[in-house]
Amino acid sequence: MINRAVTEKFAALPTPFYYYDLDLLRRTLDLIHEASSKYGFRTHYAVKANFNPRIVKMVAEAGFGADCVSGNEIRHCLDNGFTADDIVFAGVGKTDREIEFALDSGIFCFNCESMAEIENLSSIAAAKGKVASVAVRINPNVDAFTHNYITTGVEETKFGIHMGELEEVTDFITGSPYLNLKGIHFHIGSQILNLTAFRNLCARINELTEWFSNRCVDIDIINVGGGLGIDHYYPDTMPSIKEYFEIFGTFIRRRDHQQVLFELGRAVVGQCGSLITRVLYIKRVLGVQYAIVDAGMTDLLRPALYQAFHLIENLTSTGDISKYNIVGPVCESADTFARMAELPLTRRGDILAIRSAGAYGEAMASRYNLRDLPRALFSDDIL
Ligand code: LLP
Repeated sequence: MINRAVTEKFAALPTPFYYYDLDLLRRTLDLIHEASSKYGFRTHYAVKANFNPRIVKMVAEAGFGADCVSGNEIRHCLDNGFTADDIVFAGVGKTDREIEFALDSGIFCFNCESMAEIENLSSIAAAKGKVASVAVRINPNVDAFTHNYITTGVEETKFGIHMGELEEVTDFITGSPYLNLKGIHFHIGSQILNLTAFRNLCARINELTEWFSNRCVDIDIINVGGGLGIDHYYPDTMPSIKEYFEIFGTFIRRRDHQQVLFELGRAVVGQCGSLITRVLYIKRVLGVQYAIVDAGMTDLLRPALYQAFHLIENLTSTGDISKYNIVGPVCESADTFARMAELPLTRRGDILAIRSAGAYGEAMASRYNLRDLPRALFSDDIL
């Protein structure tokens, strides 16, 4: 919670910075754990959402696995509390060096996205005399009803193996002494709020597990990916975690030995983070008021890249409501956090919180304009 005591601490600090409410993160982790253990599910945290070491350690301590998309993420997870058999490694473009590192580390599973990648993995494993565990990422052609840029499960994207190629891919893996077909993997997109998308995914998964069992190919792992969205209009609410797991618990038909894995990122860390920024100047252009703040698109790219809405609160004013365009200092018109946002009378020096920024916020920060990377502050440290 960003209450008055927290705001008073902020007032003495240089901005911008990310503020993480670790109590909220703990409660989210507990909720995920409780809701998923009812069905025997396991969640791998999608580290790309936020790789801050303090957060990664907390997630590892809570008993989650990790979903990594680069060799560096694997190394980072090993350095921050995960063991190799907690780690799945995804991504359409794994380099040879990354594959070698993952094999040497002994990770749990490679989520593979093309025949070419699987052939390469097989030959690298052969050269090392190792056997790589593989989950085939299948493109299920299921719409996620979300922003185009974060839709990944329809056929016209670069992700996953087309269902028409499944036979050839399966034959290759089962025929290679250096590969072990452990499971199937899916991920249809991100910030999904229409849960029907997940029901449709379950229906497709059932068709596919049947396809494998008709061919007498044993599948141990059904990894359904991540994607559960958060409510940006109500940053103090939890994601629909119970409903989400209930869908998979109800609709997926699985055999006793088959384990269902999840790769949640945003639902884990999205609501616990806010970007805290100071108002530098108020400027009026053609009747529109601009609040120019010291955070920019380099600190939080989501509004510029996806036109994402993030609720913005003025923590230090209780004046009459007025409308502002909230913009950063970067030399791009896209460096805009909100247009016509309703805020209490806002002045130079006021402190604003840009909410629901725990996922894909700090993680996507850049040094464009040679700006400093945003710092991170944790509720445990300042309270
Ligand atoms: N698994 C795979 C294979 C993924 O590609 C992703 C996210 C996840 C799991 C985790 O998805 P989540 O539960 O966080 O939705 N930068 C964008 C989001 C990109 C998501 C990329 N993949 C944003 O800020 O909205």
